[in-house]
Amino acid sequence: MVKQLLQDTVEEQSKHALYQELINKYVQNLWLDMRLTKEVMDYLWDIISRPNPPEKMEEVAGPKFRGTKANYYLAGNISKSIWLQDDKSNLIFEKVLQDFAEIMYYKNWENYYNIHIAKIVPAPVFQVQELWVNYQKQHEFNPPHNHNGFYSFVVFMKIPTHWKEQHELPISANSNSPAASNFQFLLGQGQTVQAIAIPLSPEDEGRILFFPSWLTHQVFPFYGTEEERITVSGNIKMDGVPLPHPKSDPQ
Ligand SMILES: [Fe+2]
Repeated sequence: MVKQLLQDTVEEQSKHALYQELINKYVQNLWLDMRLTKEVMDYLWDIISRPNPPEKMEEVAGPKFRGTKANYYLAGNISKSIWLQDDKSNLIFEKVLQDFAEIMYYKNWENYYNIHIAKIVPAPVFQVQELWVNYQKQHEFNPPHNHNGFYSFVVFMKIPTHWKEQHELPISANSNSPAASNFQFLLGQGQTVQAIAIPLSPEDEGRILFFPSWLTHQVFPFYGTEEERITVSGNIKMDGVPLPHPKSDPQ
């Protein structure tokens, strides 16, 4: 019995080590971690100042989704989430999101080959599906969730706290994994879930994380200030990618 337990532990450890090795090798490619220009940040502050619910949201999702509040649609335990739109100028999409979506899509060589070399499928068309702003107050949080769409993103607009101070608070200071105020990606499943912490401070204002919509993530609460944390998030959908023509089947 003890021998079996020891054996299980060793197998578990080697499985964990292998998983960690895989994460170390690939995780940096799983999302984009970039900084937005002042022009794009100014544009985002401008559209934040003019809440603008997407016209079709109520039509698609029902009367609960009427108005500017996005809370019913979102996982966040956050008291204020507001719909935005990329306006007529489409600036955030054309200057940032379209490029990011293409970078992520063509990192997969098979996609590049099928579209640009073999020319068996047309290039995908990406579009902003939803866009919203979260005003997170102290104690509020966003539990583990993923998004609709193909790619998703978060822009840190205003971070009123520093992770170093937050991790020194009594609730975090004695933990073996202080997490107060962190953003966190969760990879894997079952016993091999791996948390990748993104600690945040005011220096992260202007930072964007762009990731596959399936990638589970969460946001921990922060404490000790009445100031709000402001983030803009959204989902990107992909249209216009039919299944490969039967001729492309290697058979
Ligand atoms: Fe999210």
